[in-house]
Amino acid sequence: MKPLAIVILGASGNLARKKLLPALSILHQRKKLPSSYIVAGCGRTEHTNESFRAVLGVAGEFAESVVYKTGIAGLKKFLADEFLKRGAGEEYDTMIFMALPPAVFEKTASELCMEGFGKTARLVVEKPFGTDLESAKTLNRSLLECFPEERIFRIDHYLAKEAVQNILVFRFANMIFDSAWNSSCIESIHINALETSGVEDRGAYFDNAGIIRDMVQNHLIQLLCLITMDAPVSLSSEDIRQQKLQILRAMRIDKCVCGQYEKYGIERGVQPDSTTPTFTEMQLSVNTMRWSGVPIYIRAGKSMPRTGTEIGIRFKHLPRVLFNENDEIEPNKVIFKIQPGEGIVIDMASKIPGREGGVASANMNFCYRDTFSEQIPEAYQRLLLDAVNGDKTLFVSSEEIELAWKVVDKVGNYTSKFSYEGRVMPGTRLGIDWIDFERYKGVCEI
Ligand code: BG6
Repeated sequence: MKPLAIVILGASGNLARKKLLPALSILHQRKKLPSSYIVAGCGRTEHTNESFRAVLGVAGEFAESVVYKTGIAGLKKFLADEFLKRGAGEEYDTMIFMALPPAVFEKTASELCMEGFGKTARLVVEKPFGTDLESAKTLNRSLLECFPEERIFRIDHYLAKEAVQNILVFRFANMIFDSAWNSSCIESIHINALETSGVEDRGAYFDNAGIIRDMVQNHLIQLLCLITMDAPVSLSSEDIRQQKLQILRAMRIDKCVCGQYEKYGIERGVQPDSTTPTFTEMQLSVNTMRWSGVPIYIRAGKSMPRTGTEIGIRFKHLPRVLFNENDEIEPNKVIFKIQPGEGIVIDMASKIPGREGGVASANMNFCYRDTFSEQIPEAYQRLLLDAVNGDKTLFVSSEEIELAWKVVDKVGNYTSKFSYEGRVMPGTRLGIDWIDFERYKGVCEI
């Protein structure tokens, strides 16, 4: 591999400190980075290499590869000089990570272009990618003026979660569910993303975004694509993307309600009279031959009574015959536990020992923790490594982003209609018969 410059723009920010530098440090320890590389932090703050390393808590052998440059002007020469100093020659690849506020994405991309990075560098962009369809299109256009699509890596960190990657494996590497994965057998699909934390120190950002832009437009719609897409003809990123696009084109939000947690208005950075939703419950449909008629529910919220992301697939009720004459047997369910406690639970009916005719619901659990000794890598390790290797499978294309905006933009004004108290789950406002995800709490968790 050629020497590699990994440039982090917005290097003094939270994302760089909490996620990017720690992930790169682990990749370094595991010897996954090219033998010659530098990590160049870049920002407006003045730093020496030493003060930057100290502020970001970078130490040990990895720290020797971490350098700092104030501002983008002259960055190209700075990188070339660094590689020469290290005896790595003049040829190197560049990967630029924009860990920046979205308001400066376009301006920064054109500065990078002027510095001459557009011809060869890869650009990694964090969400949020626009605030609606129009702004996403404008942003895409600006980035594409300088960087070609194949070198733009748009991050959705949910795609790099191990349990999310396992969705396609579960579906397409096991024969048993394939023929049942459609509207003939499945009654409904439930996606649940709850967090006990509120907006914390991101009040100003969140108040402009709200839960739908923050969680649904990207992470949860991506989960829905993975659950519902048809099998791709190969595992290439392009073939997978094509199948996701088919789903996005057929997706529609049918009903949606929003709420806001009681103390939201006094959070730092939030307008006291804000109507930004921190909770949403919605019903969607995917109008394809496979999914037409299957309701899909998404529920997402901040300041919830518990933290958990789960996807539940509820199969149809049994007919009232044989063991189910009294209609008491619960329908089968497949629960993908994305976090915490990664795993898959299959709910099925089983005979109660000894009791004549007694049938109860039993679980079959697959827990990562019990099955594999490997540690589950943090999402950013995987994303950074894939970007280094040029693998786009876990990144989102401009078309996917625009189609997802098209879906959520149809909801219109995302304003909260009710307020809720953080310790109590807001009851369903859409009359949704939610899978009781509480039941799986603790399963596979440490
Ligand atoms: C981010 C959202 O994209 O995802 C946050 O902006 C949210 O609001 C976070 O808390 C959730 O990520 P995870 O990995 O903790 O589930």
